[in-house]
Amino acid sequence: MCGIIAITTSSKINVSKMITDGLKKLEYRGYDSVGIATINNGKIQVLKDAGSIDTVNKRMSFEDLEGTIGIGHTRWATHGPPSKENAHPHSDCTGNIIVVHNGIIENYLHLKEALLNKGHQFSSETDSEVIVHLMEEELLKTGRKQSILEAFKQTIAQLEGTYAITLIHSTDPDTIFLARKDSPLVIGVREDIKFAASDIPAFLEYTKKVIVLRNGEIATLTPKAVYIEKNGFRIQPKPVVVSWTAESAQKSGYPHFMLKEIHEQPIALKNTLNINPDIMEKASNKVLKAGKIIFLACGTSYHAGLTGYHQFLRILQKKPLYKIIASEYETYSSLVDEDTLIIAVSQSGETLDVMKAVTHVRKLGASIVSLANVVDSSIPRLSQIPLYTKAGPEIGVAATKTHTAQVALLARLALQVEHDIGQINRTEFKEQLHSLIMDTPQIARTVINQNEFKAKRLASIIDNQQHAYFLARGLNYPIAQEGALKLKEISYIHAEAFPAGESKHGPIALVEPQFPVIMIAPNDRTAKKIQGNAEEMRARRAYVVSVTEKNHEIIKRSDYTFLIPKSSPLIRPISYVIPLQMLAYYTAVRRGFDPDKPKNLAKTVTVE
Ligand code: G6P
Repeated sequence: MCGIIAITTSSKINVSKMITDGLKKLEYRGYDSVGIATINNGKIQVLKDAGSIDTVNKRMSFEDLEGTIGIGHTRWATHGPPSKENAHPHSDCTGNIIVVHNGIIENYLHLKEALLNKGHQFSSETDSEVIVHLMEEELLKTGRKQSILEAFKQTIAQLEGTYAITLIHSTDPDTIFLARKDSPLVIGVREDIKFAASDIPAFLEYTKKVIVLRNGEIATLTPKAVYIEKNGFRIQPKPVVVSWTAESAQKSGYPHFMLKEIHEQPIALKNTLNINPDIMEKASNKVLKAGKIIFLACGTSYHAGLTGYHQFLRILQKKPLYKIIASEYETYSSLVDEDTLIIAVSQSGETLDVMKAVTHVRKLGASIVSLANVVDSSIPRLSQIPLYTKAGPEIGVAATKTHTAQVALLARLALQVEHDIGQINRTEFKEQLHSLIMDTPQIARTVINQNEFKAKRLASIIDNQQHAYFLARGLNYPIAQEGALKLKEISYIHAEAFPAGESKHGPIALVEPQFPVIMIAPNDRTAKKIQGNAEEMRARRAYVVSVTEKNHEIIKRSDYTFLIPKSSPLIRPISYVIPLQMLAYYTAVRRGFDPDKPKNLAKTVTVE
């Protein structure tokens, strides 16, 4: 939700082009308005407007702004509709202080009222604008005797809510001021230049050396130095070097990031499954010791958590297992005690709903194993055992490669647990592990190669429909849920998933001729019943699409079929979801929508 970037350099280069490029990499975080500010010869210049980066930039030419320091913002509206006034950056009454903000200032109305009473003029409806006026007030109070950093700290101390803030002041034209609480902010370090951004891809082209700012930390960046403090104490930052390549944050000839990321799944799976066995044993040990286990996540990561839940259900039949959507956590918090293991799944590692729940369960003494794609992000930092998917940066808002990587990592953990509790012996474990590691990437590749054209063709058949159902049973139900979410979120066709047996208890009432019903139908114990459900849909002249493994009984009941190579239940939730990702992608494209930027959605949700 909102992407921010700030750059300061000692080299004689204009940062405006780098900021604009960085904003393009962050556009998945919000795209309803955009703005940039630089300081040139002590003068602040701001360009901003409603619209996407490309449209606004074409009109205003961000790259023409001169200056070696600047900040930029791409917005996902929370307070005030998308408009020029509400676009960031915001400035104080004097025009000397400029800020960009991601998050929500919860006490802004109260602060704004006090500032209005003191004569401040506001030009937007945003919560963020209070930050610059508060800062102006702080500097006024002491007749500018106190340092800008002191005034910044006093300002931040008055804010309630969530924030990643970057601020510049015209009288200190080298320094960027940063503060973070619950919204992500990472620092990029290079000899002559320092970056701050909501996410690493924004500056990956220039440096891989990263410092993740923590909650409560205040920082300043100058071209040569990074200074961080918390509660008045200086912190010595330890940069980590990320393994992502600059290439991985480019479209590399694909029309959209989503399609590129779908095609990157074989490599993402290979890298993810190439995990240190010791860490798997440690995580498995936590599972075995726990009295109960709760899978906790949001969105697509929740669906990965659900497949983990089903895999564990198969193995740990007697252990209480739960699955909770993170934003619903409070309702279930009484389940949590010292004996509980939370398995938190989050691509970004920064989703606020998950962070809040994880922070709370820690206080209750629960253990936490997390799965994240962004190294050193907040949720892994809150966990005893952070496990990482190695999918590389994911830019498309609709998660694809990180989802299958999460499912693969949970399958790897399930297999470890199965061995460690003695359900399979060493030889069986080794065989299954070998198959998981070697076959999964290959099967993913085959599924893409054999089904991409079919997905494109099916998209042309269903693209004028208003609704679609996805039906499955048991372990396959999360695949249907993910398929429905993908189609809904990027093509805007109303899609719902149901346990197939439940479809006749209500949903079937809507089915009419040509209504698309996608059946997840592997040759497992659910096959016979799924055939019956397909028959029920055909009887209503629905358009039945099956995702199956050469099951002739299901194929002859289907109008359209995706064929998936035979594999184990550990691999199936990966191989079966891929055609559904491609179907969603091609349907969105046919309907004229940009799959990388679904309306009203943001990739990392840092508000509750
Ligand atoms: C947002 C994104 C989804 C994502 C969800 C959870 O809603 O649009 O694609 O699945 O957040 O994000 P996380 O980073 O925690 O996996």
